[in-house]
Amino acid sequence: GWKMEDVLEQEINVIKDLVGPNDHVICALSGGVDSTVAATLVHKAIGDRLHCIFVDNGLLRYKERERVMSTFESDLHLPVTCVDASDRFLSKLKGVTDPERKRKIIGGEFIAIFDDFAVELEHKLGKKPAFLVQGTLYPDVIESCPPPGSGRTHSHTIKSHHNVGGLPKDMKLKLIEPLKLLFKDEVRELGSILNVPQAFLKRHPFPGPGLAVRVLGDVTQGNALEITRQADEIFVQAIKDAGIYDSIWQAFAVFLPVLTVGVQGDQRTHSYVVGLRAITSEDGMTADWYKFQSEFLDNVSRKICNNVRGVNRVVLDITSKPPATVEWE
Ligand code: XMP
Repeated sequence: GWKMEDVLEQEINVIKDLVGPNDHVICALSGGVDSTVAATLVHKAIGDRLHCIFVDNGLLRYKERERVMSTFESDLHLPVTCVDASDRFLSKLKGVTDPERKRKIIGGEFIAIFDDFAVELEHKLGKKPAFLVQGTLYPDVIESCPPPGSGRTHSHTIKSHHNVGGLPKDMKLKLIEPLKLLFKDEVRELGSILNVPQAFLKRHPFPGPGLAVRVLGDVTQGNALEITRQADEIFVQAIKDAGIYDSIWQAFAVFLPVLTVGVQGDQRTHSYVVGLRAITSEDGMTADWYKFQSEFLDNVSRKICNNVRGVNRVVLDITSKPPATVEWE
């Protein structure tokens, strides 16, 4: 077998050879493991000729921007520009309810912001950035383009994921994909060697369109995003406190645009429902719902109703994939 230390050294040498001494490289950080490890590796090879961008699209989880920026800057010393584009995304998404249209709008807006970033950088440097880093993994490569004779066929686009291939067409950047021969567990190992914090490497995956696929319907309705953030934080924190975070593939709250009747104190209420989803999986392609202890669920449900204004009911998703998908949209 190959040792990860050797893989790292080889990759760093490949990048040093590829990127000329006056070339600049850009990278979009999503806050996920793959782009973070890829950027850290490239940073090790070429230093601050790497320029990263992190976009706050207004669809992030509770304190997500602060948390990931702190990892990028304090732990990894990555050169990152944080762009707060919440208003831009949310105004485009206002009134949009179709899940695929939501994804398309988010993907398109992201590309526009990334383009702006590249142009600004060009003005600053006096030359175009030449390369783009992507955290593509081996499974992404075989899924989007199965090797001939592999017997694998293109899977139907059930949902349009925008983290593979969705890039500006006229940007003419050469790709650096340092993880493209690796599987997820190998990327985590590489991340460890690069001093990416363990807790960060073990984070559950989070979809590119963020809370837009977890707030059903119009993401700008009322305080749906805020409700989702608060309920999600309570749920995920309880999972961490119970010591079961690493046994779960993904866990999150969804906002249901449904009002139900409840009674809180002496008051009759007419408030929203929050759904909880937690799954186990090997690869996200199939999944089982996680079997919590009833006491755990009881505590989480109480905590959400007592602390999240506008919610009087909590339901648990007990569907596997298939027939349901992991996300609700
Ligand atoms: P589904 O809902 O398709 O999810 O069963 C499978 C895995 O993919 C994630 N997911 C996405 N990731 N952009 C992403 O980057 C997307 O549009 C998207 N939709 C789903 C989901 O969180 C799960 O890990």
